Parts: sequence; C-alpha cells; structure tokens
Amino acid sequence: MGRRAFLRDTAVAAATLAGISSLAGAMPVRWVSTIATGAREVTYAVPDADGVSIDTDKEVILARHGKNVYAFGLSCPHQNTSLKWQAGDHRFQCPKHKSRYSADGVYIEGRATRSMDRYAVRLDGKNIVVNLDKLYEEDQDVALWKGAFIAV
Ligand code: FES
Repeated sequence: MGRRAFLRDTAVAAATLAGISSLAGAMPVRWVSTIATGAREVTYAVPDADGVSIDTDKEVILARHGKNVYAFGLSCPHQNTSLKWQAGDHRFQCPKHKSRYSADGVYIEGRATRSMDRYAVRLDGKNIVVNLDKLYEEDQDVALWKGAFIAV
C-alpha cells in the first residue's frame, strides 16, 4: 500500500472512531474499510423491528420497513437538507421544503423530483454492510435503486 492510501485509510478510520459516539445505542456500527479494494463500507446490526436510525457522521439512514432493510442517504434529493423521520406519520420529511417520502424512501410529494437515494447494501451474517461509494439515485440508476435493500 502506498503512503497516500495509508494516510487516507488512517484518516477515515480516525474520523469513524470519532463518530461512533453519536450513534443511537440501538445501532452499533463497525468500520470495515477494505483496504484491498478501496471500498468504503460501514456495518450495522440488522434492526430486529421496524424503525429508523440515523448515523449523522456517515450520513446514512438505516431503516427497516417490514421485512426489508434500507440504507438511505441522509440528504434530501432536492437541495441536500438532512431528512427527518416523522415517527407519528411513519414517513420521512424534509424540513426545508417539506418533501415527503414513505418509509421505504419512495417520493410522495414536494419539491424533490425523485425518491430518497439508496446505498448498495449486502447482508453479512446478522449485519448489514453499506457501501458508501455506491449511492443510487432513482432517476439515474432505477434498476440498482430498486434492488438496493436486503430482505430479512
Ligand atoms: S431541500 Fe428537501 S425539499 Fe427542498
């Protein structure tokens, strides 16, 4: 590994460690940067019930909706405002222009023109591994976007 790659991975690992404390207790996180492939990945325990956890440091929303688990980008597709979960209404909403999305990230209404962006995910035992380098947009990568979840 070259010096540049080493410094990059070291910086990423340090940033990750600094961010662990901001996570909700119900969502343990483990950094699994794979130096060999260069992929940036983060691992969370698969939620055992419907709900939403937000990792503000990684800008990932982890959500379970029925038997499906998603990892959404935190930013609203319209102008990148951090999305909020409205537990009472069981949907996401953007606080800036009030775009609304269902629990599976599908666009309902508002200024946004697509659904919430989804990260590529895979199952690893009882964990979900999120590839931070692959964020799919519904209007650009529709097939990949549709398949970006795990069924548990
Ligand atoms: S920034 Fe979210 S709707 Fe405009």
